[in-house]
Amino acid sequence: YVKLDSSLRSPVCCVLGHVDAGKTSILDRIRRSRVAAGEAGGITQQIAATLVSIEDIAAETVSINRSHNFTLKIPGILVIDTPGHESFSNLRTRGSTLCDVAILVVDIHSGLQMQTIESIKLLQSKRAPFVIALNKVDRVYGWKSVTNSPFKDSLKVQTEEVVQEFEKKMEAVIAELAMQQVNAVPYYKNKDFRKCPAIVPTSAVTGEGIPDLLLLLPLLSQKFLGDRITKRDTVECNVLEVKVQDGVGSTLDVLLLNGSLNRGDKVMLCTLNGAITTKIQTILESSNMKSTSGVQRIEGAIGARLICKGAEKTLAGTELHVIGPKTNEVELKKKARRDIDSVTNFCNRPVDHVEAELETATSYLSSGSNGGVHVQASSLGSLEALLDFLKVSDIPVGSIGIGDPNKKDVMKSSNGYKCMLLFDVHISNPLRKIAEDSGVTIIAADVIYHLCDEFRQLMRTRQM
Ligand code: GTP
Ligand code: NA
Ligand code: MG
Repeated sequence: YVKLDSSLRSPVCCVLGHVDAGKTSILDRIRRSRVAAGEAGGITQQIAATLVSIEDIAAETVSINRSHNFTLKIPGILVIDTPGHESFSNLRTRGSTLCDVAILVVDIHSGLQMQTIESIKLLQSKRAPFVIALNKVDRVYGWKSVTNSPFKDSLKVQTEEVVQEFEKKMEAVIAELAMQQVNAVPYYKNKDFRKCPAIVPTSAVTGEGIPDLLLLLPLLSQKFLGDRITKRDTVECNVLEVKVQDGVGSTLDVLLLNGSLNRGDKVMLCTLNGAITTKIQTILESSNMKSTSGVQRIEGAIGARLICKGAEKTLAGTELHVIGPKTNEVELKKKARRDIDSVTNFCNRPVDHVEAELETATSYLSSGSNGGVHVQASSLGSLEALLDFLKVSDIPVGSIGIGDPNKKDVMKSSNGYKCMLLFDVHISNPLRKIAEDSGVTIIAADVIYHLCDEFRQLMRTRQM
């Protein structure tokens, strides 16, 4: 069923939905990985892109495609997982901006929840075609699971009561979706995929309905995306995450949509300190990030990790530009500037002031002379999420920092609450010692809400 059309790139498919609806688990099924099981606290806190090849999709859909006879023409699907936790609306927005198609995951037993509705709004404003994975059908009372089977085959072996129970639950979700102006229809009854988003009942645990989902995504893409997924030579590359990797330094997880990147390419990055030019030292394919040598060249659409000198203050959500012999760098710099300003609109100020502005914004939150806590996170994206979370948790913030803390950060923390909340950053032992000597407590965690729990615990013990 595969007949590749070399003019097409892989569509980008974003997975959205409420926390714990099963987004990562569905992706694990699709890409045959086990990411969900290894996540800190079982929640996704970053966005990442992985390519699912058309060969794998063809293999998974052989049996269901016998009746459809659908020819697969795209080279694959580039899937982007997003967090469902409320703190990460910035990452959901970023994911939804980049996607061509989407999977909205709804837990059939919980129906529409806060972030399901937020996700629907994002998709509606973006006008992206999407399918609804109605997940966790294996938990319908009395359900008999048929591992990895197309949904209709699975439904056939259920008793009449179970079918009724399932349909009752699905109807309830359909009614809730209608209230959000989404006219969802089970995909096997759907006559108009453009007007009516299709519902695919799934189980990420048993694999039921996954073949259906895997066939529908290429179908929607090939039918409705057309021009959008026609390959272009101009480089289009977006920075998803900026991280510090042990022994390597700062790395950029990027989504290369169109064009190609080569090792040694001169590039312009949008950073907290303005636009900078640097070189691509190493390109790691997202399927093989453990490798240290990397590859010479990648072509879109693909996800990859780049190592570039001086990239640590790159702003996630901005574009990476390749500088060729004919590039007008002055023009490019202006473009980068606009990009930086739009990403840092957190405080609606030019980026030179953003650090200072963040300080003002956060100290404004803090309770007068008490100062609040010092907060430090690995990237601006995670810092924003963390600040939002602290705000709703009523934890006052006195000062902030991005990246691994230094001595100055520790000194700042010795005011006010004498406490540093560290998210996803590393603090050296000598610095720990300095903190200890200044009476500063360090709370480090890789799950945002654990920081808050531990902070409350600290306040309780201090009162005793
Ligand atoms: P966030 O990234 O934190 O928003 O969550 P998520 O939507 O990625 O959900 P995740 O994949 O982490 O799954 C949450 C929990 O639900 C895990 O314990 C999964 O094992 C479980 N789960 C996911 N899908 C299914 C399913 O189809 N059936 C059952 N029974 N459990 C599921
Ligand atoms: Na989860
Ligand atoms: Mg997840």
